[in-house]
Amino acid sequence: MTDASSTPALANIGVVGLAVMGSNLARNLASREGNTVAVYNRSRSKTDELVAEHPEAGFIPAFSYEEFAASLSKPRTAIIMVKAGRPTDAVIDSLVEVFEPGDIIVDGGNAYFPDTIRREKAVRETGINFVGAGISGGEEGALTGPSIMPGGSDESWVTLGPILKSIAAVAEGEPCVTHVGHDGAGHFVKMVHNGIEYADMQLIAEAYDLIRRGTGKTPAEIADVFAEWNKGELESYLIEITAEVLRQVDAETGKPLVDVILDQAGAKGTGAWTVQTALALGVPVSGIAEATFARSLSSHPEQRAVAASLPGPDEEFRVDDVDGFIEDVRQALFASKIIAYSQGFDEIRAGAAEYNWTIDLGAVSKIWRAGCIIRAQFLNRIADAYAEQPDLPVLATAPYFAEALTRGQAAWRRVVVAATQAGIPSPAFSSSLAYYDGIRAERLPAALVQGQRDFFGAHTYKRIDKEGTFHTQWSGDRTEIEAEDTH
Ligand SMILES: NC(=O)c1ccc[n+]([C@@H]2O[C@H](COP(=O)([O-])OP(=O)(O)OC[C@H]3O[C@@H](n4cnc5c(N)ncnc54)[C@H](OP(=O)(O)O)[C@@H]3O)[C@@H](O)[C@H]2O)c1
Repeated sequence: MTDASSTPALANIGVVGLAVMGSNLARNLASREGNTVAVYNRSRSKTDELVAEHPEAGFIPAFSYEEFAASLSKPRTAIIMVKAGRPTDAVIDSLVEVFEPGDIIVDGGNAYFPDTIRREKAVRETGINFVGAGISGGEEGALTGPSIMPGGSDESWVTLGPILKSIAAVAEGEPCVTHVGHDGAGHFVKMVHNGIEYADMQLIAEAYDLIRRGTGKTPAEIADVFAEWNKGELESYLIEITAEVLRQVDAETGKPLVDVILDQAGAKGTGAWTVQTALALGVPVSGIAEATFARSLSSHPEQRAVAASLPGPDEEFRVDDVDGFIEDVRQALFASKIIAYSQGFDEIRAGAAEYNWTIDLGAVSKIWRAGCIIRAQFLNRIADAYAEQPDLPVLATAPYFAEALTRGQAAWRRVVVAATQAGIPSPAFSSSLAYYDGIRAERLPAALVQGQRDFFGAHTYKRIDKEGTFHTQWSGDRTEIEAEDTH
């Protein structure tokens, strides 16, 4: 922040796009020591409004891209906060016209990481640096301190690092920003963050549903349960806000608000991107996938109306030991959450290998400890696990998590059995348990699948007892031949 008498002629950082996110980010930047902020928006009114409403920020307004470029010190650094997609491309094209080699263009919007890879490559050819930065925390985070996941070149990080550190959320004294990796790595990690957020939310929703239908407790009573859970190993922003949502009463009807809200969950697409990417990488993110599909299922009222005639179990679901059941659900939630995060980090590990990024998974978990939606104590345990073993192949096998899974698995199984018998959908709980049993299995029926594939498509198989690739002549005398794997 600067006052009029000391306002330098040039800004060290600029923001393009002054809707909710951009104007809040610009205000956050301006409030930090050492920053002077140039602002530009396509339509002039937003710029005028922001500057008039926040004289304390000392913004340098610009009304053309030329003016904007002229108001920035070199290397010029600008953060774009406009609608994702074509608008972002349009702004990049305009900035490239007025910027010079060595300058830095940052896209802070919610871009799909392949777009960021494409843009970085194109912009790099002009000598200008392009950085895709995932910014999490919504409008409040943008104003008070988001979790920031920048990609881009090492050169751009030299200038950008201190600026982003100045505005990021702080967890245990550390700013929630790290140079995630090159080109699209930042937006990739932000995408997986959102996927994990989907899984975490779905697991909490399933826990609520089971407790409500199993015990008959009211939403307000269940709010107390969540508030209590928030004091233990489940402590997180999402558990905290769940208690608040469940406690809310609808002013119009006097009913719990959760009973008045239409049960069709929306989505903006980042969960689907996470799952599509995981499918392409061959990484089983079943918790994220089930959470994404659960939102889709909920949002087909026409199908649900028809399917409502299908039968469920005859008996009504009521548990005898209410406290025992609630504790089982808590443990099932924690175990499933470990699996969901383990799967998400697996996707980041696989993405880094595929796209040649060096991503420090421990550093990623640390920058999610504040400012973003999945912020939680739990992330410290993930950081510990990767500090102990940076190349940990399965996060869930780290000692802290393995111990929690060992402790919780009996309860987890009881809850999935109870849900199944009661006809209560728990796709995230049950798929996480299936993943757990799959990944730890000594032997999987994949052997039979290989036999089937060889039968109908001569896809060949490998043997457990010798090297080589084999094919059985199924239509002839069924002898086995050593084969080249050409399928
Ligand atoms: N991380 C989060 O939690 C979070 C939350 C919300 C949004 N976002 C992301 O942050 C970005 C900004 O979000 P927002 O909600 O503040 O704004 P938005 O509604 O997504 O976009 C509005 C802004 O885009 C500008 N714009 C649209 N088309 C343009 C074009 N062709 N050329 C130049 N500017 C154009 C608008 O300018 P005019 O005023 O001239 O129309 C306005 O400044 C988006 O990418 C969004 O996905 C992130």
